Amino acid sequence: ESISPLYSLPTEVRYSPPWQDLSIIGIAGSSGSGKSSVAMEIVKSLNLPWVVILVMDSFYKTLTPEQHHKAHANEYDFDCPESIDFDVLVETLRDLKKGKKANIPVYSFSEHQRQPNTTTLYSPRVIILEGILALHDPRIVEMLDVKIFVEADMDVCLGRRILRDVRERGRDIEGIIKQWFEFVKPSYTRFVEPQRPISDIIIPRGIENTTAIDMVVKHIQRKLQEKSDNHTEALRKLGLVAAAV
Ligand code: CTP
Repeated sequence: ESISPLYSLPTEVRYSPPWQDLSIIGIAGSSGSGKSSVAMEIVKSLNLPWVVILVMDSFYKTLTPEQHHKAHANEYDFDCPESIDFDVLVETLRDLKKGKKANIPVYSFSEHQRQPNTTTLYSPRVIILEGILALHDPRIVEMLDVKIFVEADMDVCLGRRILRDVRERGRDIEGIIKQWFEFVKPSYTRFVEPQRPISDIIIPRGIENTTAIDMVVKHIQRKLQEKSDNHTEALRKLGLVAAAV
């Protein structure tokens, strides 16, 4: 394929830069349902460069000293939409779609706050946005190419959450159970579960469901191929890529 310089572009035809082909995949579902494992499995199976996982935890709002105190006593609600800074998340996704680089906050669960360091994201081709409320905000839903809902038995979710929060998030069992019944479970019914009907694909039994994950990966591959074909076709029309012989 030969590519000629871009400066001779006719103005009536638009060249679409590669970052406009950015695909965003949303993965929602209960806490402990296995969203992060499903996201990692998708990344592994896609086996492409520039695929990144964006975890919504990075966008928790900064807490006041009083809220912080509550959080350490497991009395702060991290499961309602108000706890997440959706405006910043929307802005970040829009920037990435425009080809701008984005600084993603790094979140500490044991400290309930953002760390001073950030991760820089620049021009990814695929973003997997993973979080309990990934399909909640219509501004985000509008930007998603694929909407996934991961499902698992709530007892399994609680069991996994207990193990993980004790091992990785510096919590104790009593606190985890208190927070689960006070905030996590009610918010599941109120905000998380209602995202189910707007999803494109439901993955029952999360990570164990290799058939469903396989289908998701094939679907994403097809979508990416379509975008790439459209892109090449647009370039070909502009005479920027030689037609295949
Ligand atoms: N959370 C918390 N303390 C904070 C911030 C968030 O306990 N300071 C909890 C919220 O209660 C929320 C959960 O973190 O329910 C969101 O993470 P979760 O979905 O459990 O983890 P993931 O790894 O993203 O997903 P999965 O367990 O499905 O793999």
